[in-house]
Amino acid sequence: MAGPNWSSVLFLICSFLSVLSAGTATANFTDEEYWKQREEISRARNLVAYEPDPEVATDHFNRAVHEALDNNSTRRVLRQWRGHVWATKCTATNPIDRCWRCRKNWIRERKRLVKCVKGFARGTTGGAAGRYYVVTDPSDNDLVKPKLGTLRHAVVQDKPLWIIFARDMVITLREELIVNSHKTIDGRGARVHIAYGAQITIQNVHNIIIHNVKIHNITNSWGGMVRDSLSHFGLRTASDGDGISILGSSKIWIDHVSMWNCKDGLIDVIQGSTAITISNSHFTKHDHVMLFGASNSYEDDKIMQITVAFNHFGKGLVQRMPRCRFGFFHVVNNDYTHWEMYAIGGNMNPTIISQGNRYIAPPNMFAKEVTKREYTLQSEWQDWVWKSEGDLMRNGAFFIQSGGKSEMAYSRKGFIKAKPGTYVKRLTRFSGALSCKRNQMC
Ligand SMILES: *[C@@H]1O[C@H](CO)[C@@H](O)[C@H](O)[C@H]1NC(C)=O
Ligand SMILES: *[C@@H]1O[C@H](CO)[C@@H](O)[C@H](O)[C@H]1NC(C)=O
Ligand SMILES: *[C@@H]1O[C@H](CO)[C@@H](O)[C@H](O)[C@H]1NC(C)=O
Ligand SMILES: *[C@@H]1O[C@H](CO)[C@@H](O)[C@H](O)[C@H]1NC(C)=O
Repeated sequence: MAGPNWSSVLFLICSFLSVLSAGTATANFTDEEYWKQREEISRARNLVAYEPDPEVATDHFNRAVHEALDNNSTRRVLRQWRGHVWATKCTATNPIDRCWRCRKNWIRERKRLVKCVKGFARGTTGGAAGRYYVVTDPSDNDLVKPKLGTLRHAVVQDKPLWIIFARDMVITLREELIVNSHKTIDGRGARVHIAYGAQITIQNVHNIIIHNVKIHNITNSWGGMVRDSLSHFGLRTASDGDGISILGSSKIWIDHVSMWNCKDGLIDVIQGSTAITISNSHFTKHDHVMLFGASNSYEDDKIMQITVAFNHFGKGLVQRMPRCRFGFFHVVNNDYTHWEMYAIGGNMNPTIISQGNRYIAPPNMFAKEVTKREYTLQSEWQDWVWKSEGDLMRNGAFFIQSGGKSEMAYSRKGFIKAKPGTYVKRLTRFSGALSCKRNQMC
């Protein structure tokens, strides 16, 4: 039998080393400077996106839910002739879905989605100002010069793009997918899985929508040279294997996404990110679900403002739905049907407004509490504003509220009540990635 051809092995090793040294040359101090600069620009943008009076956003949100549910006008849809069948009643019950899902022409009105965002991410337009980009190729072989037609080629472009998919596909990322500003990833019309590879990274950018894709079995990656924009690529260190990692970014909307079984968290939001809505999504089979703020010493996370709404926290989840530090979190009209340890937790004085959720506790007698204060004495956490209003408690679930002297600072005037937890099943019925067909309502 012939042994390995040593001269070609040697050649391979040599070319590998030369690639490496070329890599380090570009990945020297300038690379760090590049990210430092992006971080500074983003910090300024994030401050602009920050809502000084967060109750404006929570009220706006709750009012929209009331209007969508109390308005009987959809009854008119009930008897609409669709060309070949009588339309069934449009069953979109929450105000985000109601804004687009009842329209069978969604394929020609994809960008209408940007009128529908609610909560802290409202105003996010993603790639609406740009052209459509059709992903035709699920491969991910060149991380520095991505091939035309791949998702990576689409997301690194500098101009706004509305990214759609030509057909069903499974995209396995070889390294982090580093998304540039002003992008929409819109999986409607195809079954798109981002799976079995590296994570999606949203770092020091703004204005991004991720819609109707399935993200699962994400693993950690070793790191390497990766492009992040048309003008730059650089050496990335190993990534953790979150589903989606949001760092120092603002105006991010994640809607109708299904996520399960990733190596680290499903969604991490860190480093002063703000103006984020996570809605209509379905989460299953995971331990650490969502982390909002990763460090006790990162006080810039005080500007973090996130809406978590109309999601279904389902089978096989353990904890952190979410786990919060410092910021303001509106957790509203979600369905919590499974958790093993707790649902909502945190430390470092986060404000958590839990409204109109349904919490179904697990059978375990020691896991009935929805809330968990991490590593803090009661004398301290009693002043954190953690409020439960209109939540539906089932199977012995209970939410320990707090507020104490901070409650004075937390104005309650004219605060609009959320739709109560009894509506949650209706509001979250279509969570997760939808199967949308041409000329039919999604
Ligand atoms: C760093 O990069 C610059 C430009 O890319 C190059 O001129 C310089 O020699 C590099 N420095 C080191 C120490 O690699
Ligand atoms: C009810 O629906 C109609 C038609 O869609 C709309 O014009 C009207 O503003 C809605 N009313 C409320 C209170 O949302
Ligand atoms: C909606 O319809 C229900 C039952 O048909 C009725 O009781 C209710 O008053 C209606 N609400 C509005 C705002 O019209
Ligand atoms: C993906 O995750 C599921 C658990 O949710 C697991 O059963 C399956 O084996 C995983 N697939 C791969 C290829 O790792």
